[in-house]
Amino acid sequence: MLVLGIETSCDETGIGLYDSARGLLGEALYSQTALHAEYGGVVPELASRDHIRKTLPLIRQVLAESGQRLRDLDGIAYTSGPGLMGALLVGAAIGRSLALALDRPAIAVHHMEGHLLAPMLEPDPPDFPFVALLVSGGHTQLVAVTGIGRYRLLGESLDDAAGEAFDKSALLLGLDYPGGAALARLAEQGRPGRFRFPRPMLDRPGLDFSFSGLKTAVLQVVETQRRAGTLDQQQRADIARGFEEALVETLREKCERALAETGYHRLVIAGGVSANLRLRAELTAMAERRSARLHAPRLRFCTDNGAMIALVGALRLAAGECTPATIETQPRWPLEQLTPIPLLIHGVG
Ligand code: KG4
Ligand code: ZN
Repeated sequence: MLVLGIETSCDETGIGLYDSARGLLGEALYSQTALHAEYGGVVPELASRDHIRKTLPLIRQVLAESGQRLRDLDGIAYTSGPGLMGALLVGAAIGRSLALALDRPAIAVHHMEGHLLAPMLEPDPPDFPFVALLVSGGHTQLVAVTGIGRYRLLGESLDDAAGEAFDKSALLLGLDYPGGAALARLAEQGRPGRFRFPRPMLDRPGLDFSFSGLKTAVLQVVETQRRAGTLDQQQRADIARGFEEALVETLREKCERALAETGYHRLVIAGGVSANLRLRAELTAMAERRSARLHAPRLRFCTDNGAMIALVGALRLAAGECTPATIETQPRWPLEQLTPIPLLIHGVG
């Protein structure tokens, strides 16, 4: 089954082409980062307009590069939530109309299920059950996964998401939005132990997170250093290092607790922040200590992409699911509302 995946939930236009038997045949990504950078965050209306400009050319590009034609498609998958309403509508309208014109089934995909199953695009996909840490710009969730569509929320952020904490702290350090990756690069030059930030909620039981206090702590340090006239490049790097260590340690500790509570031996990380190398290293070491395994998507598929949407589409269409011929989006859509399906195919990289 050959499925086209369309991702337009935020500021990336992603297209993927996934075949149940042959795996990922092609994908392309256009990032709007430069468009939004000067505003310090995503401007929803600009995002929607840019998705309109980019989606069809990218679909044509992916089909051409992989030697496929529109009529070869067996189904079309598009992200219908969660995300920005206008941005989602572009992908949903294009995906649904294309399916109607080609007389093929369409499937509305949950963006976070895309992230969660992205490690199945890798050659050594995780078996069920596993604990998933979903860390993106809008979500920080720990989920017990016992099958496709069988998700139980173990804990989540009560305020800022991990990516949001990265981005806000990056702005405070003078880095452009979204600054997560840039802050991580700056942290590499930072000296350990120069700044020790709070590890939010580690002293309490449970698997929820809170990151707004960490961001406020960064704000206070930056202000103090600025007033004292000592906020040079080395100080910025030291603060970035202290912030990253606090956040990564918090995520690692909660992941370890989740593995202990569930008794599972597999940990999956996904979402933009899972591209963070310190996080990947710390989680790998923790997993090894517990005789567990860490599964992470390749760096390109940690952040938003069309490949993960095509994959979920192929899995759900193969199980007989399809979405009625109406263009609908679900900007708020709890992961636990998804329907379970039997696993019929496996990711083949
Ligand atoms: O999953 P994603 O592409 O979009 C959402 O669905 O939100 O995640 C984007 C988030 C941003 O907050 C970005 O700063 C963060 O992922 N991010 C990183 C890194 N790369 C991306 N955060 C920390 N370290 C990185 N290397
Ligand atoms: Zn995402």
